[in-house]
Amino acid sequence: MDDDPTPRLDAVTELLLAQAGEIVGPVAVLDDVDGALTGALAGQGQRVRAWCDDVRSESALPATPLVEAVGTPASAIAGARTVLWRLPRAVGAVDEYAELIARHADPDVRVIAGERDKHLSRAMNTVLARSFESVSASLGHRKARALLASGPIAGEPSWPRTARVESLGMDVVAHGATFSTNRLDHGTALLASCLDRLPAASTAIDLGCGSGILAVLLARRGIRVEAIDVAWSACDATGLTAAANGVAVDVQRRDGLAGRTARVDLIVTNPPFHVRAAKDTSPTRELFTQAGRLLNLGGELWCVYNAHLPYLPWLRQAIGPTTLIARDRGYLVTRSVCQS
Ligand SMILES: C[S@@+](CC[C@H](N)C(=O)[O-])C[C@H]1O[C@@H](n2cnc3c(N)ncnc32)[C@H](O)[C@@H]1O
Repeated sequence: MDDDPTPRLDAVTELLLAQAGEIVGPVAVLDDVDGALTGALAGQGQRVRAWCDDVRSESALPATPLVEAVGTPASAIAGARTVLWRLPRAVGAVDEYAELIARHADPDVRVIAGERDKHLSRAMNTVLARSFESVSASLGHRKARALLASGPIAGEPSWPRTARVESLGMDVVAHGATFSTNRLDHGTALLASCLDRLPAASTAIDLGCGSGILAVLLARRGIRVEAIDVAWSACDATGLTAAANGVAVDVQRRDGLAGRTARVDLIVTNPPFHVRAAKDTSPTRELFTQAGRLLNLGGELWCVYNAHLPYLPWLRQAIGPTTLIARDRGYLVTRSVCQS
C-alpha cells in the first residue's frame, strides 16, 4: 500500500516543474487548473503571481501569502523572468498570451508551457514562434509535453479582436480564449433568430455569455441584462462587446448561478459542453438545476444545444414543461417554463 500522503501531481504539472529546473523570479503561473502547480512552487518557497481565466481554477489556488492571485493576465506576466503556463485549448488564446508575455515580461523571460499531447497542435508552435525567437518542444512525459520559448519579440497586441457580424448588425469583441472568439456560433445564431418570440421580461440572465452576443441582443430589446460567465476572457469580451454596441450589460464572473438569490423571469443560455479541453456536460446539468431554483413561477429558460445532447429530459426535470421552439440540422432551441 502507498502511504505517501502527498497527492501525485498530474503529468502536465510534473513536467512543467521538471522543465523549469532552477527557477528565477519573478514567477508567473497562468491557468493552473487545480492549484497544484502553484502549490508546489509555494511549497519550494517561491513567490508566485497567478492568473486563471476560469474562476473555478482561481478558487483552487492555494491560500498562502506567497501566492498573489491577480485579475488580468498582463498583471501576472508584468516583469516575469519565468512563466509557467498550462496551455489553453484555443490557439487564439495561446496567441494572445504569447503576445502578452512578449510585451510585458522581462526580456530574459523563460516560458515553459505544457499540456497533454492530445490537446497540443502544431498551430500552437506556429503562434508561439510569432512572439518568441526560440521555440522548442520537450520530450514527452506521461503523454504530456512542454513547449519552451525565450527571446520575446514585443509587438503591438492583436487581441482582443473585433469583427462585424453583419447578420446581427453587431461589432463583436473577443479574446483568444472566448468561445467562438468574435464569430457567430451556429447555435447562437439559431437562438438569436428566436428572440422575437421571447416572453415580455424586464430583466434577464445570459448564462454563459461568451463574447456577449446574446446579452447585447437582449439589451437591445430594452431588457436589463445580467451576463454571467466563469471565464475572464468571456466577461471582459462581453463588456467590450456591449460598449462597442452602445448598450449596458451587468457582467458577472461567477460559476453559474450558485450563491445568487434574487429570482428572475427569464434566462437565456447557450450552455457549455466542455470543461477546459474535455467534453463534459455534467456542469450543464447543474446549471439547469440552479436555473430551476432561481426562476420565478412561470419564468422561462430558453436554451440552444446540439441535438445529440441529452438535455431535454434534464430541462423537464430541473425546470418544467419544455417545448421545442426551433431546430436545424444540428441544433435545437427549447423553452422551459418553471413550475415551482
Ligand atoms: C457554448 S458557450 C456560449 C457563449 C455565448 N453565450 C454564445 O452563444 O456565443 C458557453 C459559455 O459558458 C461558459 N461557462 C462554462 N461553464 C460555466 C459555468 N459554470 N458558469 C457560467 N458560465 C460557464 C463558458 O465559458 C462559455 O463562454
